[in-house]
Amino acid sequence: MNLANRNLVTIDDLSNREIEALFSLADEMANAPNEQSGLCQGKIMASLFFEPSTRTRLSFETAMLRLGGRVITAVDIGATSLAKGESIADMAKVVGSYADIIVIRHPWEGAARVVADYAGIPVINAGDGSHEHPTQTLCDLYTIRKERKTIKGLKIALWGDLKHGRTIHSLIYALARFGATILFRPGPRLEIPEHVLRRLSIEYKGELKRYEAVNQEVERGLFPIDAIYMTPSSPHQLAMLPDVSIQVELKAGVDALYVTRLQKERYAPTVEVQELKKGYPVVDKKLLKGKEFKKTLVMHPLPRVDELAYEVDADPRSMYFKQAAYGMPVRMALIALLLGAKEITIPEKDDSFALKLDYPVYKRDSGVKCPNINCVSNQETEERYIKPEFKIVSREPLTLRCVYCEHELHPRYVASSEWHQRRLENKKYHSADSHLARKIKPENLIIFASEKEAQAQQFKPSSYVRQ
Ligand code: CP
Repeated sequence: MNLANRNLVTIDDLSNREIEALFSLADEMANAPNEQSGLCQGKIMASLFFEPSTRTRLSFETAMLRLGGRVITAVDIGATSLAKGESIADMAKVVGSYADIIVIRHPWEGAARVVADYAGIPVINAGDGSHEHPTQTLCDLYTIRKERKTIKGLKIALWGDLKHGRTIHSLIYALARFGATILFRPGPRLEIPEHVLRRLSIEYKGELKRYEAVNQEVERGLFPIDAIYMTPSSPHQLAMLPDVSIQVELKAGVDALYVTRLQKERYAPTVEVQELKKGYPVVDKKLLKGKEFKKTLVMHPLPRVDELAYEVDADPRSMYFKQAAYGMPVRMALIALLLGAKEITIPEKDDSFALKLDYPVYKRDSGVKCPNINCVSNQETEERYIKPEFKIVSREPLTLRCVYCEHELHPRYVASSEWHQRRLENKKYHSADSHLARKIKPENLIIFASEKEAQAQQFKPSSYVRQ
C-alpha cells in the first residue's frame, strides 16, 4: 500500500491498518532519528500556522528537517495575502506550486479540506478551528499503544472542553474505530456537540448511552459521566448494565484519562469565560488517589492551563510529555509516507469498528447554508467559489451534514426536481417530515431553508406543508 499523494484532513482519511503500519514506521524513526536524512532530500514542506502552536508546528518542522527536507513557513495571516482578501483556494494553488507538502493550521473549520481540494500536493490538517486535529490523535493513539499494547477494549475517559476540543473530536472517532469504550465528562456547558454524538451512535458498531446528571454524580462521589460509548468488543456490555453496575465497573478502573483545557479562544468576547471555569474538571494528586485511577494513563494534548496540576508531572502515570515527544517520530513517518519516500505493507482486510456508510451528497445552489458561522463555507472570501455541500445522513428527520465542518441541520421544506408532468401547477414544496417528501429520490431532492425561498423559486405549498 502506498500512501503517496494522499491527504490527512480527518482521522478517517487513514484506515486502522494504515495507522498501525504508520506506527511501525514511527518506531523505526524513533529508534534511529539521525539516520533518516536521505529520505526527503530535495523536498520542501510549507508550514502554514495561522493559529498559535508550539508542539505541532515545531515537531512537524523538526520531522521534515530530520528527513533531510527543507521548510518554508508562514505563521501569521496578517503577514500573508489572506489579509488582503485572498481566498484559501488561491493561496493553496500558489503554495502547491512552491512546495511538495503542506501542513496547515487555521481557525476556520473545514479550511484544511479546501486547501487539500486546491493545492494539488499532499495536505495535512494541523487543526482546523474546533473541528479536527488528526495528527494529535496519531500521537495519542501511539502513546496508548506503547503503554498498553492495544487500544481495543480499553476504557478511556475524556474530560474538559469536549465542545471545542478538536483533539477530542478526532480522538473519539479513532477510539470508536479501534474498539475502545469512551466515557465523557465535560465541563459545564461544554458537552460533546450533537453531531459528534450522532455520528458515534450511527456510524460505529458500539452503543451510546446518555446521562443527565454529571454534577450530582460528582457530589455523590461517583465517577462523573454524561455519556458513555461502549465498544462492541467490551466483555462487560457496559451500556446494558443498570447505572449502579456501571459505577461499580468504572470504580474498577479506567485505562486512560484524557484531559483538555478550556478552549477560551473559541468564545466570543461577550462570553464570561470565568463562569465556564466553575465546575471545570481538574486533575491533581488528590483525584489520582482514587481507586479507579490506580493504573490510569494521564494524558493531555497540551498546552495545559489550570486543569492539570504540575504536582502530577513526576507521577509515572503522566504521559503528556511523552505524547508531545512522540510527535516527532510519528510526524516523520507521516511525511515520509505522504511524500512516497516510504511504502508500507497493509493487509487488504481492515479491522475497524466503523460502518462503511455511503451517504448521498446534496450540492444544489438552493439557499441551505451550514449553521456553523465558523465554517469555511460561510466566510466572505470563500463564498465566491465554495458551494455549500452536505451529506444527506438521514431522511427521518431530514438531516444534512456539512462536508466541510460536519455540523448538521434539519431543513423544513423540500421539493422534487421531477414535478408531475412538468406542469407548473404541480411545482409544489412539502414539509420535510411528510411522507411525500421522504419518497423523493436523493438525486431529485431540492431543499429550502425557508418557505420564502421555495416561493421565490416559483414553488407553491402542497397540502403536505405543516403550518
Ligand atoms: N497539542 C497541540 O496541538 O499543541 P500546539 O497547539 O502547541 O501545537
